Amino acid sequence: MAAFGTVFMPEMAISWFDGSEWSEAEVVSSDSIQMHPGAHVLHYSSTCFEGLKAFRHEDGSIKIFRMDQNVERLAQSSQLLALPEIDKAATSRMITDIVGRFKDEVPAPPGSMYIRPTHIGTEPAIGKAAAPTATSCQYVLLSPVGDYFAGGDKALRLLLDDEGMRCSSHMGMVKSGGNYASALRPIMKARAEVQADQVLFCPNGDVQETGAANFLLIDGDEIITKALDESFLHGITRDSILTIARDLGMKVSERQLTVEELLERAAKPGCEAALSGTAAVLAPVGTLIYQGKEYDVGSGGVGSTTVKLRQTLNDIQWGKAEDKHGWLTHL
Ligand SMILES: Cc1ncc(COP(=O)(O)O)c(C=O)c1O
Repeated sequence: MAAFGTVFMPEMAISWFDGSEWSEAEVVSSDSIQMHPGAHVLHYSSTCFEGLKAFRHEDGSIKIFRMDQNVERLAQSSQLLALPEIDKAATSRMITDIVGRFKDEVPAPPGSMYIRPTHIGTEPAIGKAAAPTATSCQYVLLSPVGDYFAGGDKALRLLLDDEGMRCSSHMGMVKSGGNYASALRPIMKARAEVQADQVLFCPNGDVQETGAANFLLIDGDEIITKALDESFLHGITRDSILTIARDLGMKVSERQLTVEELLERAAKPGCEAALSGTAAVLAPVGTLIYQGKEYDVGSGGVGSTTVKLRQTLNDIQWGKAEDKHGWLTHL
């Protein structure tokens, strides 16, 4: 099976902003894009993107999960990066049109079609280090993906890092390439030195998120996760899982969680932790590594509440449970 995100549909939707208006969206080959080597994005990282999925239901219909939320977040990232304002309705149409064009290629569960809207600054202007790009380009790539847990559902090992940061704190809620570049070296170091799967960034003891997912602590019937602020990415899976947890009668506490409280609670039998994100939905965390010591979360294995919450969300995405919050866009 090819690695996640390495197979692409042969065409993509694209639209250009010329400084005053967006062009009519077109469908073009997805194997290249023409840009000036002095393009703003290549020098000053004026780039943001999204990740969402389309699902095939048993009746053959195709549904996109929470597209409105991803388009909102792309608009917000664009605004915070001083990129040109996007037209949310036009972006949504680009997404539904390109998915519709490749609807026969949308894999059946547990696979899906991963959708990657992208917005980049294209102005050829290498003197604009401290000024926004005047022109930009938006495109929507498609990548069919398989079962994320094909190798088995194994509990992850997380290194708690209370010194570094994933990205600078005012950039946390922007889904921008530079933030991922900024987190790369700490993640590589944690993999090499303590065989961690991910780093859980906890600047000054404040439990935030990993490089590409939000963190949830599940203690009995309570979920504890950091309250929204500008320092981390507001995951749409996080919001969906919290909504489902409330529907199931669980208590949801969105508040600050310190490393100290996390380690104390994690030691209790039955405690669980998980990472939430579009790719994996909800991935169990079995081990926390902090200051050279390893701590099991509960039993150290895959928690039953984590599996139940993930299954409930999958059932909605796959059309096996009622979509009572109106999360699915019908093509
Ligand atoms: C840094 C970061 N946090 C959280 C998430 C989870 O966001 P979502 O649930 O919207 O995929 C992602 C993944 O996209 C991410 O890259």
